[in-house]
Amino acid sequence: KSHIIVAIDGPSGTGKSTTAKIVAKDLGLTYLDTGAMYRAITFAALEKGIAPENSSGIDQLLRSTRIRFDDQNQIVINGINREKEIRGKQVSEAVSPYSAIPAVRKTLTEWQREIASERSCILDGRDIGTVVFPHADFKFFLVTDLKVRAQRRFLECQEKGIAMTLEEIEKNLAERDRIDSCRATAPLKKADDAFEIDTTQLSIQQQVKIIEDRVGVVA
Ligand code: C5P
Repeated sequence: KSHIIVAIDGPSGTGKSTTAKIVAKDLGLTYLDTGAMYRAITFAALEKGIAPENSSGIDQLLRSTRIRFDDQNQIVINGINREKEIRGKQVSEAVSPYSAIPAVRKTLTEWQREIASERSCILDGRDIGTVVFPHADFKFFLVTDLKVRAQRRFLECQEKGIAMTLEEIEKNLAERDRIDSCRATAPLKKADDAFEIDTTQLSIQQQVKIIEDRVGVVA
């Protein structure tokens, strides 16, 4: 098949992006980090002091903010590389309320569909298999014990020089999952036809292999 869409959804810190990046490289797909898009809008809103409740401010922000990924897949907001900022504590703690705003979801969903219409993509997020691409060729849903997720994310933050304690990270993951699952628009939810993978006991290589074995045949 010449054009395929692979959806990887799941709660925060289940290894979606690490896995998706490797699968993308191995199978020659474009990787799209949809969480980075929500983080970017959040960063821009915080920078301008626009609260999630301020709907005209949010509309104006969506019209005026330019987001793109550079050739290293790092996020560029209005011409400035903000990769480190969007992964930090401030954005991580604010992102879920902004992601629940219907206008934000509409804009980012359209953008995701547009990018993926032109090339084969693997997208990771919360609503890819349910809302953005309900007819995706492959859907995966990753789950992992909270303690293990927090530990993995903690090591990742240390590597990137992001200052967050293990306790802060665990609290943040649990809180984001709660808000992301409870929102009215496109909540975090496994699509009925998604293949669930519990990564608690798996290495990155193992979870990559499970996905590639299913996708690889057609890609
Ligand atoms: O994937 P990541 O953890 O970077 O996502 C950050 C936040 O962006 C999530 O907690 C969620 O609120 C939001 N998000 C979303 N829909 C997506 C991807 C991310 O609502 N498809």
